[in-house]
Amino acid sequence: MTGYAIETKEMTRCFGALRAVDRVSLQVPTGSIFGFLGPNGAGKTTTLRLLLGLLELNGGSATVLGYDVSTQAASIREHTGVLLEHDGLYARLSIYDNLEFFGRVYHLDVRTRQARIQELLKHLGLWDRRDADVTKLSKGMKQKVAVARALLHRPSLVFLDEPSAGLDPVAAVALREDIQNLARKEGTTIFLTTHNLAEAEKICDCVGVIRKGQLLTQTSPAELRSQTGKATARIVGHGFSDSSLAALRALPQVESAVLRDDELHLELGPGTEIPPLVTWLVREGIQIEEVHKGRGSLEEAFVALMQENGQEHREVLS
Ligand SMILES: Nc1ncnc2c1ncn2[C@@H]1O[C@H](COP(=O)(O)OP(=O)(O)OP(=O)(O)O)[C@@H](O)[C@H]1O
Ligand SMILES: [Mg+2]
Repeated sequence: MTGYAIETKEMTRCFGALRAVDRVSLQVPTGSIFGFLGPNGAGKTTTLRLLLGLLELNGGSATVLGYDVSTQAASIREHTGVLLEHDGLYARLSIYDNLEFFGRVYHLDVRTRQARIQELLKHLGLWDRRDADVTKLSKGMKQKVAVARALLHRPSLVFLDEPSAGLDPVAAVALREDIQNLARKEGTTIFLTTHNLAEAEKICDCVGVIRKGQLLTQTSPAELRSQTGKATARIVGHGFSDSSLAALRALPQVESAVLRDDELHLELGPGTEIPPLVTWLVREGIQIEEVHKGRGSLEEAFVALMQENGQEHREVLS
């Protein structure tokens, strides 16, 4: 097996005339947390279903844990865990009995099952609630149980389709930390899709961006930010005048300059150095007290990438 848990070459899937996944070549390193990003309808869930062997490829090839998706789907499903858009839990069973049921499906022996269920529920803070019916749980708790189910048989690769969808920010952070800790502790490769770019930035070693079925880029979040994200700066000082602001805005490297009280907020072109700008402001007679250099967020980089590729901002955020 290569150093990749997932490797696809020109993987393609059409629905009628629509190329939902269009010649996608991906490499997900073993042991990494990979974030698959893209607007609604980009092809993320379809990719995931292709990788699980739940849909047939129309072109190209893909291996998951060294198994071919077209001919060895059963082995893939045996060695992977999955959280799809629906949690797939049995509403009438308790948390514990749900996991017990899935443990049997995975052929875990009784002692392994019991120990693993206890370990996961304690880790996820659900051990005390283990006898509660799944119907009585909040959305966040159900997501946690679904994550526990995905990890139950210690798969070496876990697919999570929007694990934090519908969770409040506190629950989303807690779940993110749980996923991250479990992945690091057990060396699991995680392939997740998310619309939460701040989350992707914090958790992922590598991200792929897909749009209209095509993979636009595959890189680290930091690299994606520096490729397309705008740099920003916040400068605190006195003596800003309308004319100095107008002159500042006319500089080629300054994309926008907004004054709020004594704070100047700048958006700068890629690679802009801050010290020459500070020197320029001092020459304009501005007394500078503080300079804070910001970096573009992954969200800004994502929006810029979509705009570069001809997509309306509105569509990205829908
Ligand atoms: N079974 C299907 N039959 C026909 N078209 C489909 C089918 N499944 C997906 N599609 C289409 O394929 C495209 C990609 O859908 P997919 O669900 O992969 O998007 P996604 O990136 O997961 O979007 P979202 O962020 O909204 O979950 C969409 O245009 C969708 O309508
Ligand atoms: Mg989807």
